[in-house]
Amino acid sequence: ENAPLLNAIIQNAIDGIITITENGVVELINPSACKLFGYSPEEVIGNNLSMLMQSPDKDRHDTYLQRYQQTGIPHIIGTGREVTGLKKDGNVFPFRLAVSEVQLAEGIIYTGFIHDLSPRKEAEDKLKNLA
Ligand code: HEM
Repeated sequence: ENAPLLNAIIQNAIDGIITITENGVVELINPSACKLFGYSPEEVIGNNLSMLMQSPDKDRHDTYLQRYQQTGIPHIIGTGREVTGLKKDGNVFPFRLAVSEVQLAEGIIYTGFIHDLSPRKEAEDKLKNLA
């Protein structure tokens, strides 16, 4: 079995990785994602993913999941999107979100890949100030 290899990849990934159930409850968060959002795994696992975002998405994310499950029409799965994350300290940061859907025997899970865009944004802002 390659479970130890998969675990090592997830634990050491540069990008953040979060998995949720079909109800939006966090099942796994890797060290990169913990660092980005400023939480320990215990503070996030078992809670709704919406704790990591601002309003209005925070209040709507469960509806986004339900709508997708009812219609089958994705808005992020398969394309990705730039979204805003909310850190524990209240600061926000931009990231590129990619989401994939996995059908397991136990049910559907969604995996989110989180690529921090704040270094790029900061460099762009510096360049703008030079102009
Ligand atoms: C849908 C925002 C994180 C899974 C959406 C939509 C928005 C959104 C705006 C609906 C798009 C639309 O209908 O036009 C955010 C924000 C996040 C975040 C601000 C910041 C933390 C995540 C993560 C996952 C995830 C980490 C997976 C673990 C999904 C799924 C859908 C969705 C499965 C529905 C399918 C789809 O529209 O493709 N999210 N999301 N989201 N999100 Fe998130």
